[in-house]
Amino acid sequence: MKKWKFPIIAFLSFFLLNTTLILKPPLLPPTNPCLELPDEYLNYQDIELPPYIGNIPNLDVFDNTPANNFITNEAATLGRVLFYDKNMSANNTISCASCHLQEFGFTDTLQLSQGFEGGSTGRNSMNLSHAKYYEPASFFWDQRAATLEDQTLMPIQDLVEMGMDLDDLILKLEATDYYPDLFEDAFGSNILTVDRISRALAQFIRSMESYGSKYDEGRATIVGPGQGGLAPFRLDFPNFTSQENLGKSIFYDPEIGNCASCHTPDLFVAPGPRNNGLDVVYDDNGVGAVTGNLQEYGLFKVPSLRNVELSGPYMHDGRFETLEEVVEHYNSGVQNHPNLGPQLRVAGPNSPPKVLNLSEDEKMALVAFLKTLTDHNFLSDDRWSDPFCEITSTHVIEKNKFQVYPNPFTQGTQVDFVNPNAVQYNLRIFDYQGKVLWEVTTIDNSYYIQNDFLLPGIYFLQIDNDNSKGIEKIVVQ
Ligand code: HEC
Ligand code: HEC
Repeated sequence: MKKWKFPIIAFLSFFLLNTTLILKPPLLPPTNPCLELPDEYLNYQDIELPPYIGNIPNLDVFDNTPANNFITNEAATLGRVLFYDKNMSANNTISCASCHLQEFGFTDTLQLSQGFEGGSTGRNSMNLSHAKYYEPASFFWDQRAATLEDQTLMPIQDLVEMGMDLDDLILKLEATDYYPDLFEDAFGSNILTVDRISRALAQFIRSMESYGSKYDEGRATIVGPGQGGLAPFRLDFPNFTSQENLGKSIFYDPEIGNCASCHTPDLFVAPGPRNNGLDVVYDDNGVGAVTGNLQEYGLFKVPSLRNVELSGPYMHDGRFETLEEVVEHYNSGVQNHPNLGPQLRVAGPNSPPKVLNLSEDEKMALVAFLKTLTDHNFLSDDRWSDPFCEITSTHVIEKNKFQVYPNPFTQGTQVDFVNPNAVQYNLRIFDYQGKVLWEVTTIDNSYYIQNDFLLPGIYFLQIDNDNSKGIEKIVVQ
């Protein structure tokens, strides 16, 4: 028997060696994209808080910033560059920003996001703003990352998301012409370490705070602490329409929507993971699957509702495309999961799920209120924008964000798309051979195409800009 041992070991080790070689793709050299940073560092460390946020009693209790990672302008700037850098992925194709787009409240518009090789993530991308104020300090829908510093290293190494080995990442970033100086400014020496990368990314994310929405404008006129205290919200906001004020009262009133009991104003960050009755039995057990605690089965973290208008599809599995569907879920679709939050039950623990019986007007009002949480300044503020001059993320525009109707058509057709910040888009029509037959550039969110140039047949309408692209088949009759 003995004589067989050596060849078997030799064979096995050769096989294992080769398998590891096959599993680990060769390290690509970095690209050196053009980077455009302002001469003076932008302000991340002293973000001014409105009084109703600054005066929240024990605000620092909600704040998950660790004592060794306070925000500095230099390190948050480094975080910004890392966040937008495609060199962070194994094949230099995607960055964090490919799935967390500023214009969509740092989410993407896909039900599940697409990783560096086109694979799908297990869950829907999350809004990153106000991440700083989550008291449990844990991250992801199932809270599997104990801190934000831990979280930032996980997508980099994830085999679907960015597929990068951390040692290789350091070698690659060291070879760029911009990181050594940025690390020097941020941390006092030009040495790149994994710890510094995670800290810079976490600082950049914790700096994402937004208080320029229509809601904030109205809230500023009402005196009194938020975050738990509901009294100030019983008053109408003078800048709101009557519909928005109605929606606000439904959101806050414990007797009606009771939404505020979980999505706590004014940060609209929930105090902890909850079950909101998506299904009786979950395939995805959320926090419970991580902790093994049966009482935490089906519980999920929910990011801040600020900018929720643009962060769809909604929920951890992206099951709802629109806010109307979300509202209908709470109105009539809450399921009786054993761990369903008591706030969504008729009368506390063990009672059946509540049916809100909202009228159509009330449902529309609730949606209108949620839209007052959109902050266009934040969604285009330079501090959180792409610092690279070249195209750094191409993002697929989903069907629900981009509509062509009528289709089929003869005389002409209307294109509507989500474009809240009036970003410039190109519209193009091309044929099966890829020949461009018509094109226009627009900043509107709606465009009528008069058809005096297409013969009956099948064509493609493409909408794109540096960051996004969507294609729809169109038929001319
Ligand atoms: C391929 C798409 C993709 C990429 C690339 C990506 N993310 Fe995410 N991100 C997601 C998805 C999907 C989730 C939710 C995953 C889950 O909970 O299982 C998420 C969740 C998060 C969260 C949790 C937020 C919270 O409140 O708990 C943070 C923070 C985050 N990502 C930061 C980053 C950073 C930093 C990078 C780059 C290093 C990055 N992401 C790259 C898709 C992506
Ligand atoms: C019991 C606590 C609770 C109550 C009450 C509650 N929610 Fe939620 N909400 C959650 C949880 C938890 C999630 C995330 C669930 C998931 O994805 O599994 C969520 C998700 C959402 C989302 C989607 C967020 C995203 O980024 O995908 C919206 C919008 C929302 N809720 C609005 C409302 C409205 C409007 C009401 C009142 C009618 C309400 N919620 C009441 C706990 C609650």
